[in-house]
Amino acid sequence: MTTVTFKINGKAASFSGDGDMPLLWHLREDAGLKGTKFGCGIGQCGACTVHINGEAARSCSVPMAALDGTSITTIEGLADGERLHAVQEAWIKEDVAQCGYCQAGQIMAAAAFLKDNPNPTDDDIDSGIDNLCRCGSYYRIRKAIKLAAQ
Ligand code: FES
Repeated sequence: MTTVTFKINGKAASFSGDGDMPLLWHLREDAGLKGTKFGCGIGQCGACTVHINGEAARSCSVPMAALDGTSITTIEGLADGERLHAVQEAWIKEDVAQCGYCQAGQIMAAAAFLKDNPNPTDDDIDSGIDNLCRCGSYYRIRKAIKLAAQ
């Protein structure tokens, strides 16, 4: 039995249970935050991307035991109240989403990426974000990231 305390979207939270359980399970099943998606479950697709202490992380591959004292942000907590994050605004303006399934993870990855790369080229985006999109919306994703960077 593992007990950890942390914050999710700014609110204090705790977990007691199997420390090997992935964060993604906790978010979706315990916390009811269904915006974070399950894709591959092995850390490869990025559909489950959240921020842990401001850095992009694949929540299917982060065990609950590793989260004590951390601050987790999910897509539900990315906006500042009613004010959308610049990446969310850009996503809407560029009409990025197709089927939409990977988009929360894409947005979370892009928001973390832009903090370290405020003026990225297409190559920077391609090498810095490897989230998968089965619809192939990469062209619009790049455009939205560049718009958000302005
Ligand atoms: Fe976590 Fe694919 S579901 S990386």
